[in-house]
Amino acid sequence: MSRKPVKVKADPETTGHVWDGIQEFNNPLPRWWLWALYLTIIWGIGYVIAYPAWPLISGATPGLLGYSTRANVAKEIQRFEDANAPVEAKLVAADLPAIATDPELANFAKNAGGAVFRTRCAPCHGAGGAGARGYPNLLDNDWLWGGTMEDIHQTVSHGIRNTTDPDARYSQMPAFGEFLEPEEIDAVVNYVLAISGQDHDAGLAEAGAVVFADNCAACHGEDGTGDREQGAPNLTDAIWLYGGDPATLTETVTKARFGVMPAWAGRLSESDIRAVTAYVHGQGGGE
Ligand code: HEC
Ligand code: HEC
Repeated sequence: MSRKPVKVKADPETTGHVWDGIQEFNNPLPRWWLWALYLTIIWGIGYVIAYPAWPLISGATPGLLGYSTRANVAKEIQRFEDANAPVEAKLVAADLPAIATDPELANFAKNAGGAVFRTRCAPCHGAGGAGARGYPNLLDNDWLWGGTMEDIHQTVSHGIRNTTDPDARYSQMPAFGEFLEPEEIDAVVNYVLAISGQDHDAGLAEAGAVVFADNCAACHGEDGTGDREQGAPNLTDAIWLYGGDPATLTETVTKARFGVMPAWAGRLSESDIRAVTAYVHGQGGGE
């Protein structure tokens, strides 16, 4: 096979560089290559003039076309806010119980409230609202403070036992380790085990009934079914906020509990608070 001979000028101009006997010719660059180079330079200059490009101390040159990804996003958000404004106004003006019965409001609240819940409430109450130890399950019918639209709206707006909102729901169970003898605590724990239908020592529970009537009934009720005015849990059901086993009950009675929930009024719009209230109310346990 013979190779096509490369055309070489008879007396090529060289740059004078020689490496291992190889000379560097001083041939002009191919024309097409040069044109491509000039075009990219022109395009580059045009881009710098038209678009944000040159970095400055804070920001960059804005460019003549006024293009800004940030402004575009703000515009998009504004577009959605404008579209939602009428239904949000209606939501804020509605009677709380009426929200669930108005299909437009109920549907909007379910979506908007679900989004608020997933970002603001899920870290404590769980993604689905099923709660965790110390963070109540919001899906069941067992309410500490109440499950009507008004109750939930109050809880979400002002929170519980926080120090930032003077209207926060408040109550405090005393730490009975300071008032009761260990035998009395043991007795009352057995009484709580008895009324919640768990294994217990009958003799201790009988003594515990007296301790309960004297020390606990004022908040948890004569029959132990709780008091929503004070957020005192029902102790007779199988639903526990902190735990119903003897060790946890002993710890609760000895040291007490103090669950805190932040207030959302001021941090969320009234429309968002109502949407998330309706969302929680609609999750199954609403009253
Ligand atoms: C920092 C954790 C935290 C966040 C965030 C939080 N909560 Fe709570 N929430 C709690 C705690 C703790 C309680 C229980 C307080 C108590 O022991 O009484 C509670 C109680 C509640 C209750 C009362 C339940 C009942 O049984 O009466 C409702 C309703 C509620 N939260 C809704 C919400 C909603 C809606 C959001 C989001 C906007 C939210 N929470 C965000 C911690 C939180
Ligand atoms: C001043 C009112 C008050 C008194 C008195 C009181 N409690 Fe409570 N108790 C509460 C409140 C409020 C809570 C909820 C605390 C929280 O949510 O963080 C609670 C929570 C509990 C719990 C946790 C329930 C759960 O679901 O995990 C138990 C158990 C309990 N109390 C038992 C008792 C016993 C036993 C006594 C009497 C020795 C007593 N309490 C006296 C207000 C009271």
